[in-house]
Amino acid sequence: MAKVTFVDHDGTKHEVEAPIGNNLMEIAVNNNIAGIDGDCGGMAACATCHVTVDPAWYAKTGARSEAEESMLTFLPEIAETARLGCQIEMTEELDGLVLHLPVEQF
Ligand code: FES
Repeated sequence: MAKVTFVDHDGTKHEVEAPIGNNLMEIAVNNNIAGIDGDCGGMAACATCHVTVDPAWYAKTGARSEAEESMLTFLPEIAETARLGCQIEMTEELDGLVLHLPVEQF
């Protein structure tokens, strides 16, 4: 089983199993990762699944969609590697992915 590590803003790491085909919001919610709510159910309409992809992994997560880009503009501050977790589908290639969690969701 592939693994993903979520890193809290204080540096605490949570390594979880990541089923291929699930999106990263689902994986976080299913593992009770604090800070990922997924309020819209993965429709790119709430940004409560905002994460910052570790720069070493960013290129492998693909490009932001137009809807995702638009939703991220509502956040007061985002990193260059910010993504919506619901818009990243877990693949074998992402085994070992590292995602950083925001201090809080807006
Ligand atoms: S769950 Fe709402 S934007 Fe991702």
